[in-house]
Amino acid sequence: MHKVLCLNKISPIGTDRLGAEYEFSTDMQNPEGILVRSAAMHDMELPAELLAIARAGAGVNNIPIAKCSEAGIVVFNTPGANANAVKELVLAALFMTSRKIIPAIEWAKTLKGSGKEVSKLVEKGKSAFAGPEILGKKLGVIGLGAIGVLVANAAQTLGMQVYGFDPFLSVDAAWNLSSSITKAASIDDILTNCDYITIHVPLNDSTRGLIGGDALAKTKPGVRLLNFSRGELVDTAALLPALESGHVAAYATDFPDDALIGVENVLAIPHLGASTPESEDNCAMMAVDQLKDYIENGNIKNS
Ligand code: MLT
Repeated sequence: MHKVLCLNKISPIGTDRLGAEYEFSTDMQNPEGILVRSAAMHDMELPAELLAIARAGAGVNNIPIAKCSEAGIVVFNTPGANANAVKELVLAALFMTSRKIIPAIEWAKTLKGSGKEVSKLVEKGKSAFAGPEILGKKLGVIGLGAIGVLVANAAQTLGMQVYGFDPFLSVDAAWNLSSSITKAASIDDILTNCDYITIHVPLNDSTRGLIGGDALAKTKPGVRLLNFSRGELVDTAALLPALESGHVAAYATDFPDDALIGVENVLAIPHLGASTPESEDNCAMMAVDQLKDYIENGNIKNS
């Protein structure tokens, strides 16, 4: 009997695939495998029998990779399995940072009075909540992995000019990756030219603080910034004054941060990018299949 410890709620469509040869629990000793979503594992003592950890998600920053490598523990993730879910939320954020949809809805809930009075107030709202269209605007996509490419494709069909850059790819490779990229750009091209910038790179020592004071100083006044990858990719201390002055017109993020809570032009979502039933099923199936294949056959995919 193989033993698998599950540190988060993982979709049963995945865990059911473990089958009769597996004991599976949220609390057990000496597991050979661990299934995890977002639980932070950095302070966890790694069990001696542990062979592999499978993350039902793309990022692996909640897993102590160096410690695992030293101990010969393989770490899997599920690239692409939740890409569509994240793409859809990024598109929603593109619209929401432009058209002030959320504050307008909140304001409309407060409207009181006769039909005529409400109509007058609505006229006021029309100018108070006006915002630009995205058609023809320049979108910079930093990071052209599974999610970045889907976002680039969708933005192009919405009539945006898409600039693409990936810190781990040459400009030529980035160009070839997505037919929807109008311009294979450098990061500076994106910072200086784009009306919207969306970040889709993993968090590691080379990307932490990627958008800091220097980068923000190069951006166009009124730029709208979207971060659905990891909070630490953006230096919030540097971002705050840029938001307050309006240089950054809006920041949409899937990672609420103390410093940004309550800031008017911040749209903070509680890490919902991958939270759709479809994506949770996809990630769970992929994570379980990889874990089993390694435990049973020693095969390694997406480690
Ligand atoms: C990811 O890295 O893909 C997401 O963090 C997944 C999740 O929401 O758990």
